[in-house]
Amino acid sequence: MAELRAAGQSVGFVPTMGALHAGHCSLIDAARAECDAVVVSIFVNPTQFAPTEDLSQYPRPIEADLAACAECDVAVVFTPTPDEMYTDGAGGGLTTIAVAQLGEGLCGRSRPTHFDGVCTVVAKLLNLVGPDVLYLGQKDFQQAAILKRMVADLDFPVRVNVCPIVREASGLALSSRNVYLDEEIRKKFAPKIYECLQVLAKKISDSAPSGAELRDFADSFFAECTPVFELEYLELLDAETLKPPANKGRNRVLVIAGCFGKTRLIDNVLIECD
Ligand code: PAJ
Repeated sequence: MAELRAAGQSVGFVPTMGALHAGHCSLIDAARAECDAVVVSIFVNPTQFAPTEDLSQYPRPIEADLAACAECDVAVVFTPTPDEMYTDGAGGGLTTIAVAQLGEGLCGRSRPTHFDGVCTVVAKLLNLVGPDVLYLGQKDFQQAAILKRMVADLDFPVRVNVCPIVREASGLALSSRNVYLDEEIRKKFAPKIYECLQVLAKKISDSAPSGAELRDFADSFFAECTPVFELEYLELLDAETLKPPANKGRNRVLVIAGCFGKTRLIDNVLIECD
């Protein structure tokens, strides 16, 4: 990486946890289009998983991932171990980066330590890689909002580019966790998540339904998915502050999370102001 910088090459950086799919590849493509060289990290970051979560089961198809990176013309693939990454190995270190407020709601409610782990590892990766541009997916909307704020607050000399969500033909957002879904759920029920967002986005392009109204809509929309799907949240928020939308003339985002059994899926749709 030092050689790339010394050679004056602009560097685009795509941090990942591996199990690469077309969503990750779209970030790599965006980086290749804008930068001289692309660096990808593959690191299943232990500090962003709670003890009850799927750290040990998280898919790690490293050979296929390296092949995908080679195919996408990635200059450097960085695959550190927890011991190489953290002072105390899988336990992390003594220093944690926490972005206030933005991480409290949505996924932060059920995963209270998750975003501190994400911010800390991405800050460390930015220090190690030193890229010109950081590529993130809109798929993890809250994560991108938090990391953008971290970069601004801590003066990381990097531009952040948030890229659109890549979906299966059914509308289901690509995710490394989709492999946990059984065939029937993946085909028949999981695509309802995006369908719900689309129906709602059309309905609310001009209005601001209350949280209770959204919840009522979701209850009837997902009735046919009972008992396989459990809704965790469905909210309409200001796209930057992640607070309830207050002023007109600002972008809003509809965000959803829910579980099929133990598999937790998230999705969102941006509702841009005119
Ligand atoms: P991971 O889940 O592997 O995702 C890596 C990047 O790919 C994230 O920026 C994510 O938003 C993006 N991504 C995932 N699915 C996508 C899709 N369907 N379309 C477009 N982009 C998609 O997010 C993480 O890893 C980690 O939290 C990380 C930032 C690497 C820190 O450990």
